Amino acid sequence: MSAEYLRLGVNIDHVATVRNARGGVYPDPIRAAKIAEQAGADGITAHLREDRRHITDADIDGLMAALSVPLNFEMAATDEMQKIALRHKPHAVCIVPEKREERTTEGGLEVAREENRLAHFIAPLREVGCRVSIFIAADMKQIEAAHRIGAQVIELHTGAYCDAHAEGDFATRDRELETLREMSAFAHSLGLEVHAGHGLTYDTVQPVAAFPEVVELNIGHFLIGEAIFRGLTPAIAEMRRLMDEARA
Ligand code: PXP
Repeated sequence: MSAEYLRLGVNIDHVATVRNARGGVYPDPIRAAKIAEQAGADGITAHLREDRRHITDADIDGLMAALSVPLNFEMAATDEMQKIALRHKPHAVCIVPEKREERTTEGGLEVAREENRLAHFIAPLREVGCRVSIFIAADMKQIEAAHRIGAQVIELHTGAYCDAHAEGDFATRDRELETLREMSAFAHSLGLEVHAGHGLTYDTVQPVAAFPEVVELNIGHFLIGEAIFRGLTPAIAEMRRLMDEARA
């Protein structure tokens, strides 16, 4: 298949992490989102966690008011988050698993075990026009379940692939990449839009960006870290360049 344009969603959660370390007002994640827009982000991703450890309710209000590109609102499948999403009606909602004690989103959502509840959970979000995405492991059972519950999009968790690369375990990395490749094609064959993300860096982005079925990557932690050294605009521009190079 010929590859469509690959969108870059920039996740600004960790600008808020740095701000919250001092409990003040800077650095401002809304300002970061506006710079990311200018630098070529096709969307902004923000995860309002139950414990509000980084993004806050006020940040979501601010992003909804300030952004010219779509907001991808990441949230757990809870009643509280559903209410917030229904009030804001962001362009996209990505449902993620959430555990209080985790450092970051570990693993994908268990869709297969919770099909009924999740089908009812996402229906009102779809009705108000949100594009619903489900963050899952590259696993055929989970992809089939996401399709059955009526999700339009799946986002494949690239964490295991990226971790294996960082640990120098290249056999595992290559196996994880092959699974991501196969599951991207499988999800696309069911009519699902395929996104990917978590842990991607300059070193790991290109093999995933080359999958023709993947049309959006969501990248945050690495970009915000890299911005310390080269500034946010060049950090994003380099990611964009690598994505375009892989796609060509
Ligand atoms: N996609 C989803 C669904 C996520 O939960 C996250 C992390 O919040 C990302 C992408 C971005 O991951 P990272 O910050 O590691 O680039």
